[in-house]
Amino acid sequence: MAQTFEEISAADFFYRNRDIAGFTNPARAIFSSMRELIENALDASDLFNVSPDIYIRLSQENETELGEVAVYTLRVEDNGSGIPPRHIPSAFGQVLFGSKYKLKQARGTFGLGGTMAVLYGQITTHKPVYVTSSTGTSKIYRYKLMIDIQRNRPLILDRKIQINKEKWHGTTVEFCLEGDYFRAMPKILEYLKQTALVTPYANITFTDPKGRLYKFTRATTKMPTPPKETLPHPYGVDVEIIQRLTRITPYRNMLDFMKMHFHRVGENTANRFLEFAGISERKNPKKLKPHEIVKLVRMMKRFNGFLPPDAGCLSPLGEELLKAGILKELRPEFVAVFQRKPSTYSGHPFIVETAIAYGGNVPKKDDIPLYRFANRIPLLYDEASDVSVRVIRSINWRRYRVSSETPIIILVHVCSTKVPYKTVGKEFIADRPEVKREILNGIREVARQLQRFLTKQEHVEKERRRLSVFSKYLPKIARFSMELAGKEKPPNIKKLLRTVRKLEKEKD
Ligand SMILES: Nc1ncnc2c1ncn2[C@@H]1O[C@H](COP(=O)(O)OP(=O)(O)O)[C@@H](O)[C@H]1O
Ligand SMILES: [Mg+2]
Repeated sequence: MAQTFEEISAADFFYRNRDIAGFTNPARAIFSSMRELIENALDASDLFNVSPDIYIRLSQENETELGEVAVYTLRVEDNGSGIPPRHIPSAFGQVLFGSKYKLKQARGTFGLGGTMAVLYGQITTHKPVYVTSSTGTSKIYRYKLMIDIQRNRPLILDRKIQINKEKWHGTTVEFCLEGDYFRAMPKILEYLKQTALVTPYANITFTDPKGRLYKFTRATTKMPTPPKETLPHPYGVDVEIIQRLTRITPYRNMLDFMKMHFHRVGENTANRFLEFAGISERKNPKKLKPHEIVKLVRMMKRFNGFLPPDAGCLSPLGEELLKAGILKELRPEFVAVFQRKPSTYSGHPFIVETAIAYGGNVPKKDDIPLYRFANRIPLLYDEASDVSVRVIRSINWRRYRVSSETPIIILVHVCSTKVPYKTVGKEFIADRPEVKREILNGIREVARQLQRFLTKQEHVEKERRRLSVFSKYLPKIARFSMELAGKEKPPNIKKLLRTVRKLEKEKD
């Protein structure tokens, strides 16, 4: 029999392989859908530089018998940038369409997450998605859409325009999907709590299918500095990137080509590099032959005169906000935070932030609990495969006075223009030696801070015990020695006792 060959679209591919995007079963699907829409909402408010107000509502549509799958309506509303009307259909009706392919930090990456949630809803309920959005102009657009999965194109079923009297800006997305909320609930609530922790400037409200209300209130209106778009760094490019650049470049010589298309390459560096690579600075980049492009890339990797990428394209949370988030959501007795200096792996800049929360409302656990974040997203699945877990296991915690009895939580945040995720489901970070080293040094730093705190606390405790014995017997000793010395008045012991009280206060 003859073979038949056919082509499938990107949407069709993800329809057939939804596991790899985190849509494995009804519980996981509802978790992933909520998370993708929330992350889009947060990205949109970062973009608009407005403190996010996010409302999430999940309501059950059908009465289920035992063994039946439930159908839910998920609605997420934000006050972010909104979407220009002409892009709304593709943003939600086309896989691998998005605005975040730029070289700067964002939660979204491939133009996949939100659309994947909509696609999952469609293939399980056969219902459309409703998107209402405005960029703050005089109009609000409301679309009713479905995805043509075979062609990876949006189908516009209806479009309405309303007058935007209040100049509202933001987006509301609503669609139906099959799911299992009650199995997903612990993860969803954990996700919301950790999102509130790394986004301490956001108000997040969630109404669950039973009508329960979860509210996470912002602790600050200060937001992290927004990231700036950047050019590719010479260490991070490959043959394809150079090839594309030669096609679009307006520059006629290699010197300008190097200076204008790459991150942190100035006149001097460009000159030195071209000399090193044996390429004439007057050569026209459009005339580069394939083998010359390959050589160019190889020489870029070999040349060690390029400046490291700067971190302006990144937007870490910062020590102050991280601390505010931890105090708000974990209520510990002590917290240590640390932001490492920017670093790079394969030409991609990244920053690691670490924290330890101790005592207070932090419970005791046998294993040290770890909160993982990447580009301000909590990562909750596949923890065992994550690089941070390995780092924590490799540390000798006794050195830092941490035992299985110590109530602590460790937090690791990696931000990068390219987080080294192992899967498109964005659940865990791969073992890159450079990233691993930064995480290790970051955790060591906060562990040292904790150690200092614990040592001091132990010392204070010892002193307190010593002095409390003192304060009990001191008056007696004073009286006794007065009698012994034949004096009329006992010596003044008030000063000594004051020290005792001061120490006690310090402890509290
Ligand atoms: N709530 C929202 N506000 C503004 N823009 C949005 C929102 N949700 C989605 N978008 C737009 O739709 C695009 C596709 O979203 P998505 O499929 O989640 O991919 P990604 O977030 O990875 O880019 C985004 O790049 C963004 O431009
Ligand atoms: Mg997204």
